[in-house]
Amino acid sequence: MTTNPVHPRPTPMYDRSTQVDRSADSINFGIGQPDFALLPHALMSEVAAERFAEGDTELLNYGFPQGDGRFRWALAEFLSRGYGAPVQPQQLMITAGASQALNLVCTLFTRPGDTVFVEEPSYFLALRILQEDHRLNAVPIPTDEHGLVLPAVEDALTRHRPVLLYTIPTYQNPTGRTLSHSRRQQLLALAEQHDFQIVADEVYHLLDFGSPPPAPFAAYADSGRVLSLGSFSKILAPGLRLGWVQTSEQQARQFADSGLVDSGGGLNQFTSNLVRVALEGGGQQDYLDSLRRAYKKRVEAMDAALHKHIGDRAAWTVPTGGFFFWLTCADDFLAAANRSTAAATPGQFNTTALLDAAADAKVGFLPGPRCSSVGALNHCLRLCFAHYPIPEIHEGIRRLGRVFDTFQ
Ligand SMILES: Cc1ncc(COP(=O)(O)O)c(C=O)c1O
Repeated sequence: MTTNPVHPRPTPMYDRSTQVDRSADSINFGIGQPDFALLPHALMSEVAAERFAEGDTELLNYGFPQGDGRFRWALAEFLSRGYGAPVQPQQLMITAGASQALNLVCTLFTRPGDTVFVEEPSYFLALRILQEDHRLNAVPIPTDEHGLVLPAVEDALTRHRPVLLYTIPTYQNPTGRTLSHSRRQQLLALAEQHDFQIVADEVYHLLDFGSPPPAPFAAYADSGRVLSLGSFSKILAPGLRLGWVQTSEQQARQFADSGLVDSGGGLNQFTSNLVRVALEGGGQQDYLDSLRRAYKKRVEAMDAALHKHIGDRAAWTVPTGGFFFWLTCADDFLAAANRSTAAATPGQFNTTALLDAAADAKVGFLPGPRCSSVGALNHCLRLCFAHYPIPEIHEGIRRLGRVFDTFQ
């Protein structure tokens, strides 16, 4: 008889206490969440009243395993329009958000010790689900301006046999970058050739600020190689805990056949019934359009403030969608900062050190190493432009500029 090897939980590579300072006088660009003031209270209260008025027993009952049928029809129609590619309700498995979807993917398709390819950098909490909760062996793959570097994937495939490749192809968290169309095609070919699944976390795909991105991986769901994760967290409200997996019909049924769903029924029956009304009545689309307009202005504000207060001490590209700026500190700045901090922490200057000084100046960000599966990237930092209105963006970046000043 063979026994499973024991895969201990890895020790976290970073100090979690540094993530979220919510004190009222602090401006923390490390918070990667929508602005609380923009959340759709009025819309949700209207659709709730309308749905309750419909008066059937389904609303508060256990739900259909794959997700409420009328909701999946409405979602499929909404996504078909947004993606510019047909989505079938049978391809959708409704979940309680993208995080839960990722967790369920790992539960159903992996075992501890399996290998998963991840982007370097990646969404820090997805890394936690993969590495800590499911004890998977995360292999970092470098990214550039156009996303995953394909020769690096090919090279890693000569040494590893991944079960999954986890990617955030569009307006990536944390870099804001988008995988090009041709790289998407090459990745699909590699998945077929080397027998792995692409877990495409596409939660930002619909959040473009003008020109639409390349077709999502969701458009290739029928290939059987793609698990596309979507969510209402960034396009409506995170507290709804509502998301989906789009994949082949066969795999969608596999999710619905899981023990979790067998016991608890559809994963978000109540909320999905409310959101269905917002989809059918056009409220979701209008709200999304208003978010796009608001976020576009915030991007412009943050870019202008960065030019004014940080200048050439860091490099960034202006995001065309999503939530984030990714700053790479310039070598000159790092060298000067290293010299200025040498007495206290010889050779140790990095953005995590910068974070301590930032806390004193009442400004925050997410340091690069949090976004690395191997604790690297300590010359980078992530700033979220979505959480604060424009005056706070100006003030917060002004404070960050002052913090940079102290290190030169
Ligand atoms: C890439 C990515 N995936 C998933 C999530 C979380 O999604 P949800 O709220 O649907 O679980 C986030 C939130 O920051 C994210 O950036």
